[in-house]
Amino acid sequence: MTRPLTDGAPAPAIDERHPPIKARRISFDWSKTPLHWVPGDPVATHMINSFHLVLPEGEKWFIQCVKDARPHIRDPRLLEEIKGFIGQEMVHARSHQGVLDQILEANGIEVSRITGPAGQGNADRPARMAALKEKSPRSWRRRLRFELAAVASIEHYTAVLGQWIMDNERLDAAGVDPMMLDLLRWHGAEEVEHRSVVFDVYRAMGGRYPTRVLAWTVSLFFLYWALIGGTLYLLKQDPTVKGRVTLPRAYRSYRRSVRKGTVPGIFRLLLGEAPVYLKPSHHPSEICSTPRALEYLKTSPAAQAAGYDPY
Ligand SMILES: [Fe+2]
Ligand SMILES: [Fe+2]
Repeated sequence: MTRPLTDGAPAPAIDERHPPIKARRISFDWSKTPLHWVPGDPVATHMINSFHLVLPEGEKWFIQCVKDARPHIRDPRLLEEIKGFIGQEMVHARSHQGVLDQILEANGIEVSRITGPAGQGNADRPARMAALKEKSPRSWRRRLRFELAAVASIEHYTAVLGQWIMDNERLDAAGVDPMMLDLLRWHGAEEVEHRSVVFDVYRAMGGRYPTRVLAWTVSLFFLYWALIGGTLYLLKQDPTVKGRVTLPRAYRSYRRSVRKGTVPGIFRLLLGEAPVYLKPSHHPSEICSTPRALEYLKTSPAAQAAGYDPY
């Protein structure tokens, strides 16, 4: 597929099924980013901050699952894609950790009640999986397949959200902090690039449709818990709004932000993807646009500062 770029130069052909995946080791400077990086909107800010809360440990878990499966994969192209996936997710986890340390904790917002148990879970997982493999290789395989199916479901949403944030010019119009917007759009672009990897790993490990549906349902509940629970957890601790944000006020503010376009409508977005993701013949390459992701990466200040040419 060819598609004109913004500067009029022809883009190289992109295979949406197998786009090249490479890690870009970029970094962000948070020294000028205010706590409410969606200006004047703590609810919208903390709603997206809830992703920062779960992503560092979440993405480390994605990596563990894929690494567990890797010795069982024979396809050299998928092995190469796994390498790119792991590299990208490592940089993502580190970048979101920077937001937790340098913006949230620096402003007195405690995050360890969420990140601590998640980190412990990741630290304990290799021994737990090894013990299970020793006891019953069949149960280990079933367990790993379920986890891969859950990660594939979450990766569907990270790609869809990535496309949303790249295409959403209303965030710029609302005056969202440019450094944060670049982090979210760079991450979103790479999520679009590697959107098929975990799905393909799941299938290569013998994953089938019923487990995909079950894991999607569990993941959906997790995502609602992470988004709603995370937003309320952060709002409760925000020193500028502490004790003044009740649930109905937070909900009204969220609805206003959805109308303004600074946050996605999470009920429509998450449930609305069910007919897409649950189509038995679905493959992630059918959604989102790699050329659009590359187009963004071409202009991403952080990627450009690190000297990456996306083509
Ligand atoms: Fe990621
Ligand atoms: Fe991802």
